[in-house]
Formats: sequence, C-alpha cells, structure tokens
Amino acid sequence: MRYSLLAPAKRLRPILVLLAAEACGGRAKAALPAAAAVEMVHSYSLIHDDLPAMDDDDLRRGLPTCHKQFGEALAILAGDALLTYAFQVLADELPAQAASACCRELSRGAGAAGMVGGQVQDLSAESNGAAQKRDTLETLMLIHANKTASLFRACLRMGAWVAWEGKPVEPRTGLLDALDQYGQNFGQVFQITDDLLDIEGDATVAGKRVNKDASRGKLTYPGLLGQERSRLEAARLCDQAVACLVPFGPAAERLASLVRSLLNRRN
Ligand code: IPE
Ligand code: IPE
Ligand code: MG
Ligand code: MG
Ligand code: MG
Repeated sequence: MRYSLLAPAKRLRPILVLLAAEACGGRAKAALPAAAAVEMVHSYSLIHDDLPAMDDDDLRRGLPTCHKQFGEALAILAGDALLTYAFQVLADELPAQAASACCRELSRGAGAAGMVGGQVQDLSAESNGAAQKRDTLETLMLIHANKTASLFRACLRMGAWVAWEGKPVEPRTGLLDALDQYGQNFGQVFQITDDLLDIEGDATVAGKRVNKDASRGKLTYPGLLGQERSRLEAARLCDQAVACLVPFGPAAERLASLVRSLLNRRN
C-alpha cells in the first residue's frame, strides 16, 4: 500500500480537492483528509489497472508496478485495502456532515456508475478492436467521462462539501453544477493528453510505459482523430473548463491555471 501510494506522483486529484475547497471559501487544511482519501482510491485504481488481466503494465510512477514488485495476489489485496482505507479516513477524520457527503461523492465517482464502470467500458472497447462501428467519438467521450472525469468531479465536490460544513445552504446548487462542468472538461483534457503522452511521451519522464495503447487496440482520441486534432480538441475543452469557473471569481484562479497546465504536461 505504501509502495504504490507514496511513490512520486502528480497528486492532481488531491490538489483538486484542496483548490475546490478554497474556491468555495473553505480552508485547504480542513480538506486534507478528503484529499488523502481520493489519492488512495486513485492509487488502488492504478494498481488494478496495471494487472496482467487489465492493461498488463510493468512500470508505474517510475517504479516496477505493484504486482511486479509483490506478486499479483498482494497487488490485488493492496488495492482492495487502499480502497477500503479511503472510506475509513473520511469517516474518522472529517466532521460528520462532510464525512457523509464525501463518502457519497467518492463512492459514486469511483464505483460502477463512475470510474469502475468506465474501466469496464475501456476494456470492452479494446476487445472489440479499433475498427468497430461503435467506436465513435461519442463512445470515447463516455468512456473518458466515466473512467477519468467522474473521479475528478468527485474531488471537486468533496472539496466543496468540506468548505460548506456548518455554513448556510443557499448558493450551493449552482456552484456544484459549475464544479461538475469544470471537472467533466478537466477529465476530458486530462485523458486526451494521457492518450497523447502514450504516443509522444518518454517513459523515463512519464514514469510509465508509452506506446502501449495502439498495440492493445485501445479506443483513444489520437487513435480516432489523430494527434493534431486531439490537441486542438484538448485546447477547446480547456477553454470550456475555464469558462465554468466564472461563478467563483478570483477564488478559482488556481483551478484555471491547473487545467491550462495539462495542455503541456510531460507526465
Ligand atoms: C493516470 O493518472 C491514470 C489515468 C487516469 C489516465 P495520473 O496521470 O494522474 O497518475 P499519477 O497519479 O500522477 O501517477
Ligand atoms: C486508467 O487509464 C484510468 C484509471 C481509472 C486507472 P489508463 O489505463 O489510460 O491509465 P495509464 O495510461 O495506465 O496511466
Ligand atoms: Mg487502463
Ligand atoms: Mg493503463
Ligand atoms: Mg493511458
């Protein structure tokens, strides 16, 4: 659990939790348990994503993947335990209302109707092969929305609930919707650039193997549209994400910078 969770990584999801808390008028420090919990769920998803039965990868966060280091059985169990521990941390460390809201958001975002469901769709698109009729842009966006964006959306919503603990209810609905829209666009930009990194990136910088998606027959943006159009689409979705932040004013400036930084990422 420690090997995979504490390996060098970008920590984008915890950062989103903290920045959303700030954008909603809360203190980042109060959101640290939520930030840690979501990174545990994300790290579990990577351990399982790398297993031979899934993407079959041997390098993650610059280190041998968990199953290469400890064997498949322990890797499966380390993932199970990180997933479970995330909810223990939320329940133990957050005040009651925020704890229950965060458990709801994280379980929804990570579960069958979110990340896990998206992983199922990702694998099933792969086994259908790249030339299937159903491999449309619409299918691809749906896979990204589930496997990637739904956890980002959960991060943002968790940050908001922590910020709102004990505060009056009125302005919330519009702001949650705005965070959702930002998170949806953020997730699409993030996964398009992840798919581009697989083609253009360098394993030593990215900390994971590259040039794997095409050989596995993954349905990806660059596979469907080419690299140039994928980059343009990422830039367009990035502008859309920034536009969603208007209701927060200057409090969301760092969220705007974060999504812009995805366009040039190397890892
Ligand atoms: C990789 O996530 C998995 C995807 C959802 C594409 P990150 O690129 O955020 O990986 P880490 O956390 O920095 O290792
Ligand atoms: C993984 O997507 C998404 C998860 C929910 C873990 P990928 O399979 O593209 O992630 P990488 O490229 O292995 O990091
Ligand atoms: Mg995968
Ligand atoms: Mg993978
Ligand atoms: Mg990838």
